[in-house]
Amino acid sequence: MIKVLFVCLGNICRSPMAECIFKNIVKKDGIEEKFYIDSAATSTEEIGNSMYYRAREKLQQMNIEIGNHKARRITKEDYEKFDYIIAMEEQNIINIKRIIGEDRKNKIYKLLDFTKNPRNIADPWYTGDFDKTYNDIVQGLEGFIKYLNEKININE
Ligand code: 4NP
Repeated sequence: MIKVLFVCLGNICRSPMAECIFKNIVKKDGIEEKFYIDSAATSTEEIGNSMYYRAREKLQQMNIEIGNHKARRITKEDYEKFDYIIAMEEQNIINIKRIIGEDRKNKIYKLLDFTKNPRNIADPWYTGDFDKTYNDIVQGLEGFIKYLNEKININE
């Protein structure tokens, strides 16, 4: 079982979008039972809240199933539990380390580092551009799947 935790600032836009889109990809590929997928925030701001309606609308438009999301904050235990902790931007990584300490087991990644054009995913809470957020996330997830395939044969 590969355990993947997506992390952003509020856990109401980017990381729950990545969680739902990734769940959709592995389901489509018939490898969903190989994964445990979740998402979390670094801040306490939105704890307990649902996904932001604009993020939900974008996923609905793309026919991606939306679960019963409630924002939560990443914990020290998450660091032990998950294999991949995938942040949306550099500042998330700084904030994650404030909570979990050093990345002793090299589990922390930035989503777009799995692409040919590593960069941050801008916060749509501020940009308002959920189409760009969606496209960036899909690109990162495709790169992540490719990375996993090269590292371990996930289709076996
Ligand atoms: P997210 O977006 O990190 O992509 O979930 C944000 C949502 C809410 C806030 C910041 C970022 N906020 O400050 O409430």
